[in-house]
Amino acid sequence: MQYLATTTAPATLETDCIVVAVFEDGELSPSASTLNKQSDDNISRIIARGDITGKAGQTLLLQDVKGITSPRVLLVGCGEKGSTSENNYISATTAMATVLNSTAIRHATSCLAEIDVQSRPLTWKVRQTAISTEAVLYKYTQTKSDIKPQEFPLESISFYDESDATQAALSGQAISNGMTLARELGNLPGNICTPTYLAQQAVELANRFDSISTTILDEDEMANLGMGSLLSVSRGSREPAKLIVMNYNGAADARPVVLVGKGLTFDAGGISLKPSSGMDEMKYDMCGAASVFGTLAAIAELKLAINVIGVVPSSENMPDGDANKPGDVVTSMAGKTIEILNTDAEGRLILCDALTYSARFDPEVVIDIATLTGAIIVALGSQASGLMANNQPLADQLLQAGNDSYDRVWQLPIWDDYQQQLDSNFADIANIGGKEAGSVTAACFLSRFTKDFNWAHLDIAGTAWKGGKAKGATGRPVPLLVQFLLNHIASK
Ligand code: BES
Ligand code: MN
Ligand code: ZN
Repeated sequence: MQYLATTTAPATLETDCIVVAVFEDGELSPSASTLNKQSDDNISRIIARGDITGKAGQTLLLQDVKGITSPRVLLVGCGEKGSTSENNYISATTAMATVLNSTAIRHATSCLAEIDVQSRPLTWKVRQTAISTEAVLYKYTQTKSDIKPQEFPLESISFYDESDATQAALSGQAISNGMTLARELGNLPGNICTPTYLAQQAVELANRFDSISTTILDEDEMANLGMGSLLSVSRGSREPAKLIVMNYNGAADARPVVLVGKGLTFDAGGISLKPSSGMDEMKYDMCGAASVFGTLAAIAELKLAINVIGVVPSSENMPDGDANKPGDVVTSMAGKTIEILNTDAEGRLILCDALTYSARFDPEVVIDIATLTGAIIVALGSQASGLMANNQPLADQLLQAGNDSYDRVWQLPIWDDYQQQLDSNFADIANIGGKEAGSVTAACFLSRFTKDFNWAHLDIAGTAWKGGKAKGATGRPVPLLVQFLLNHIASK
């Protein structure tokens, strides 16, 4: 799929389909109105018949409208004129993509970005269209044998705007490509997407982009670094752990932003075994890692002037004769001893060593992204990712990037008051707290390993994938992370 820009006015456009917005009560967007005049009010007569009322997400595909150069006009409802909400705009662009994807249309031109969406900039509207379109077009096929290629695949959407939407289209393309990569890695089953597989994908990313290089640390190298916490998790698995380091070099000598992604390719819980129902979804426990891959691919495509290092600790968490047992004490790379009271709280065990390792890059900031706690789903549902940080300006930047990208986050506190839950009688720290504030105590655990730098933690257990009938990875929080990096560059 290609996202392009055009400044050719709809009246003279030649494309398989022109997409224009209509509002409730038969109101027309500027481009719809232009086409309507050109067709001698044909479009408003059709609307008056009542087949489309303009509610957000409604569509009506018109063929051979008198006086219009393009063979088709797609009317898309955007709700009440003048007050299109972000959600209505996303419903509209999703509906548009659904029609474009289920017809013989190959090249479409969208005029939807001309409408006002809560005063959002053109870039937002274009990116959001690319993101909704990619979500509609994405089809998981890698482990299916009965997939027929689509007869008329959609090939391009051009965005009409007088002021040239080229830059916006390019960023929409890059972000949605990054999301697709994250989705694909997330959806792959645990028997294919192993730590070794993820390491190979990092090598492929480095082959694809000159600006990315990668280093993979194996278990011996991690042992030499003293990563006793990380390695205690992989000891119970036949799949060797990997520490994947990806270096995106886009600026001469700037301190890097380090993104640490939890890469649990399958989390059975270990000896603290998870219940069997729904356990398949724990293949998604590497979605933090997947978002780091997707973000690096997106910023490499956009050639952003910034240095970013992706660090992905990757392992399985399995029950085994050699697995961690409740009560075991392990020593982390930082030297702190950890009492493992629940082997299912393994994410923090691999992340703490990866965070300690991150300090060697003299990072400007470190952000970890992890499907860390079920509790964050209880707190925030699938709407927002949880945000916790040891530095409020950094938290504010992530909140801002969440609002800007509409890939939103919500902050929870990590006050000292919560830290005592992690007290242990037998080690420096326990790996779980009590029943209360599970997402906060998980972050408190990580905070013990991030004292030397500005750090934020994103708990994406509720946002990285959908369960149920529409089960699948979402590609979040790639838009958030790319936006954060774009804002970061702009603030320099
Ligand atoms: N990967 C899970 C978190 C998770 C659970 C994500 C359910 C999405 C859905 C993590 O490793 C885990 O098991 N966390 C435990 C922590 C607990 C033992 C303190 C949890 O959330 O139950
Ligand atoms: Mn777990
Ligand atoms: Zn986990």
